[in-house]
Amino acid sequence: MTVKYMELINEVKMPAIGIGTYKTGSDEETAHAVKFAIEAGYRHIDAAAFYGNEIGVGKGIKESGVKREDIFLVTKVWNDDHGYDKTMEAFNKSLERLQVEYLDLYLIHWPTKLNSETWRAFEELYESGKVRAIGVCNFKEGHLEEIKESAKIMPMVNQMEVHPFNTRKKLREYCKVNNIQMVAWSPISRGRVLTNELLIKLSEKYSKTITQVVLKWHIQNGVVPIPKSSNEGRIKENFEVFDFEIAKEDMELIASLNEDKSVTAGPDNTTFWDFK
Ligand SMILES: NC(=O)c1ccc[n+]([C@@H]2O[C@H](COP(=O)([O-])OP(=O)(O)OC[C@H]3O[C@@H](n4cnc5c(N)ncnc54)[C@H](OP(=O)(O)O)[C@@H]3O)[C@@H](O)[C@H]2O)c1
Repeated sequence: MTVKYMELINEVKMPAIGIGTYKTGSDEETAHAVKFAIEAGYRHIDAAAFYGNEIGVGKGIKESGVKREDIFLVTKVWNDDHGYDKTMEAFNKSLERLQVEYLDLYLIHWPTKLNSETWRAFEELYESGKVRAIGVCNFKEGHLEEIKESAKIMPMVNQMEVHPFNTRKKLREYCKVNNIQMVAWSPISRGRVLTNELLIKLSEKYSKTITQVVLKWHIQNGVVPIPKSSNEGRIKENFEVFDFEIAKEDMELIASLNEDKSVTAGPDNTTFWDFK
């Protein structure tokens, strides 16, 4: 199966599905999962300094033998490294651990009080060509409006917890109007989708697994999912979503599962959130 792409506002092409790497284990285990994902067809890899596995991610990419320019590599600056100087330093350390010369996308991992200082460093990294696109994670409309006040360049991506139980309809609309590509973390709500009755029925209807139905629902919504798996069978399964189409009425049924519910510790249940 060949990967499909979404185009960012600066015309950079982002593969429409990525592999998540949170809790992929040791460097060896991470490298194995990343290499296997690339062999299965993934070209978009979501890492973060906070995950402590950038060395493994870099190793997996190298071992895959696929050219650097054919991979869309993402990593994130952690909260402790906010501010102009610290961000620059964190960026260089990430490049070193990943063993690459540039990033495809650099993200602010969580909003903090230092968003605008951090963003100034991001703009400079972008302008110098060290990163092909810049963005944020876990930013609600208020955070994005605030950054707008001082930004020369607006975030091109917002990575957020999105799944059928928290569809983020309003934020998705805001991002669409502001040319910000949404990326869904915990796209299968860390497995909670697997027991939902409606999703079980749709899985039977489309002869696809529940996970495949949910991942395709994201993509048809214009959102890029980044499911994590360290299991070869599930890595493959999650990528096989480009050979079917969900009907409009079923897209709406899935959206009706929304409960505005975060199934993780954030972003709605965290002190980082309401930082003002
Ligand atoms: N920006 C942020 O603040 C932020 C926050 C959280 C996550 N993320 C990113 O988003 C990625 C994905 O989110 P997530 O890891 O929280 O949750 P997720 O992708 O929704 O779920 C991952 C869990 O589901 C299991 N799984 C994967 N595919 C499956 C399948 N086909 N059938 C059954 N179970 C399956 C995985 O186990 P196995 O490994 O055993 O398959 C793992 O336990 C992360 O890895 C990370 O890269 C970003």
